[in-house]
Amino acid sequence: MSKVKVGVVGYGVIGQRLADGVVRQGDMELVGIADVAPTLALRALAEKGMPYKLYCANPDNIPQMEAAGIPVTGTADDLLDQVDIVLDATSAGVGRKNKEIYQKRGLKAVFQGGEKNDVADVFFHGYANYEKGLGKDYLKLTSCNTTGLIRAVDCLDRLVGIERVVVTIVRRSADPGDTHRGVVDLALVEPVPNHQAKDLMLIMPHIEATGLLVHVPTTHGHIISILATPKKSISKEEVLAAFNAHPRIRVVRITDGFNSNTALFRYARDLGNPRGDMYEIAVFEETITFSGNNIFFTISVPQEAVVTPETMDAIRASLMMQATREEAVAMTNKYLGLK
Ligand SMILES: NC(=O)c1ccc[n+]([C@@H]2O[C@H](COP(=O)([O-])OP(=O)(O)OC[C@H]3O[C@@H](n4cnc5c(N)ncnc54)[C@H](O)[C@@H]3O)[C@@H](O)[C@H]2O)c1
Repeated sequence: MSKVKVGVVGYGVIGQRLADGVVRQGDMELVGIADVAPTLALRALAEKGMPYKLYCANPDNIPQMEAAGIPVTGTADDLLDQVDIVLDATSAGVGRKNKEIYQKRGLKAVFQGGEKNDVADVFFHGYANYEKGLGKDYLKLTSCNTTGLIRAVDCLDRLVGIERVVVTIVRRSADPGDTHRGVVDLALVEPVPNHQAKDLMLIMPHIEATGLLVHVPTTHGHIISILATPKKSISKEEVLAAFNAHPRIRVVRITDGFNSNTALFRYARDLGNPRGDMYEIAVFEETITFSGNNIFFTISVPQEAVVTPETMDAIRASLMMQATREEAVAMTNKYLGLK
């Protein structure tokens, strides 16, 4: 079978990682990437020898890119001519405008969490609702926080059935290098319920969810504590075994040194993972406990890389590469080295 052809539009924090993710999928081909300006990410790509073809989404800026030593293969239109599907990872809100271009071409697209839900036919999570994305033209991924949260809740839901969750999200305010958020020193509290709880209910309508969101002035990883009400009682050993068996969840121990939002990032760097990326979320083992029948535990979500696996799943669903969730996530996991 020939490989499906994928283009990535918007080569920022997420787009870089999606491009790398596509390259790792043995049944997909990255045709190229598109961006509008000579960003640091594009300068780094050029310095690395231009492993990906760059198409300029604003042709007026081609001379500026070339002056910065960034080779340009063509315009974004040239990229769109060649692909079966676009991963749109542009700045939040730009995807909606780009959708008009994709629609005119009859081209499928996957959008990221910063877009409004109505940009897509389906609000998508590879593990929780893969089948809903089958054959759909426009899919939108859950945000990084919600992707990690749903992974963990879906894992328990398939094990024992979950009726309700209450979550507290400690959210990193900015990605490393994001100076536009300013120099901050506060923990910003939002009204309940947070968008992650509302989004979880859209993807998993059988679960009642609410929760609190607190923004904190850090750049690496969200921390989420989750109180989940199971439909029948379950032991800590069973919860732990389910998390341990999940290819996109890593169980870590605070006593081993995984005691902060940055531990996972540092560990990923020590593993030699490109950019210090970690596709898995982490469950802190010592946080798993019970309040009555309710399961209480805490996870860490590496915000920059976590959506990559579910975005690969979205390509598989939209292009009907695999008919079932089990087959699709298994392919994505295999190619990303997730065991
Ligand atoms: N940063 C995160 O941790 C994170 C996590 C999950 C989801 N998301 C979502 O992913 C999306 C992208 O976020 P990001 O953090 O990568 O943003 P970013 O600002 O790092 O990258 C966006 C890129 O899009 C480019 N761009 C802007 N307009 C364009 C256009 N018309 N055509 C082509 N390229 C264009 C910009 O130059 C930039 O390089 C957003 O929807 C965001 O909410 C971000």
